[in-house]
Amino acid sequence: MNIVTNRDYLNDFIMKLKAEGETIGFVPTMGALHQGHLSLVKKAKLENDIAVVSIFVNPTQFNNQEDLVNYPSNLESDIEMLKSLDCDFVFAPEAREMYKPDDEKVHFDFGHLTEGMEGKNRPGHFDGVATIVYKLLKYVPADKAYFGKKDYQQLLIIKSMVEQKNIDIEIVGCEIVREADGLAMSSRNSRLNKEQRVAAPFIRQTMLKMKEIAQNSTIKELKIFVEKSINSNKEMQLEYFELADANSLKIISSLERKETIMGFIVVLLGNVRLIDNIKIF
Ligand code: PAJ
Repeated sequence: MNIVTNRDYLNDFIMKLKAEGETIGFVPTMGALHQGHLSLVKKAKLENDIAVVSIFVNPTQFNNQEDLVNYPSNLESDIEMLKSLDCDFVFAPEAREMYKPDDEKVHFDFGHLTEGMEGKNRPGHFDGVATIVYKLLKYVPADKAYFGKKDYQQLLIIKSMVEQKNIDIEIVGCEIVREADGLAMSSRNSRLNKEQRVAAPFIRQTMLKMKEIAQNSTIKELKIFVEKSINSNKEMQLEYFELADANSLKIISSLERKETIMGFIVVLLGNVRLIDNIKIF
């Protein structure tokens, strides 16, 4: 496995492999890898000749400095995990390698896709995500790039970005990998203390119950149910729960058109921010 920190050096490598007819699968990450990330890497490896994983904690997508400072990192164990999956390249640049003064400034407009949820609650977050993914795709011009549905809004924004900028790549959305107790795997889970870790699956349980009662409830009733349920747990604070269309991410005002509605939730458990979603209909 090659470990590369220089973007031009990596790009040369990838271009050479492409010229030889090899297909490239790319998985962008911020490290502190877990089975959720690894499921993406396995898929990339399965569907392409060469798998590339980037590990870069991107400062521009953190709207909260404390979250950035506390973001877990463990490059050595990440590298061991990736080796065991036969990953071909790890790209682990420093921030100054990804943000150079002469880099082109790219503007993005995601319209209503960024209006709600993470776009509303984390100002500037998706600009940071789109900027770094745009740069990464420039240096890793892969055939396919893999993103998890845990960050569902991010997945749609990346798809839109690729379309807007005419980037020749297939964006593959991958299912959420969960712990046995239902908690969505996340690098941030390692920051939960013992009691918080025991409490955390309650988010998924609440979402499953909400889905169960959705057939015979109004949106208002579902929102009250989730709010009461989450806030009944002493350690938890609901940041938001929204019902939105799975394709447009428009917040919906009635449950009448039932084909593609999803529930999106963020809960603060202590100071750890946990995100999850569920397809309702
Ligand atoms: P990160 O949070 O490290 O996640 C990297 C990828 O792994 C994302 O596509 C995310 O959706 C996916 N992922 C995380 N947990 C998952 C789970 N439990 N099941 C399935 N997939 C999961 O998302 C980012 O990094 C960054 O925003 C990035 C795209 C790398 C840009 O900086």
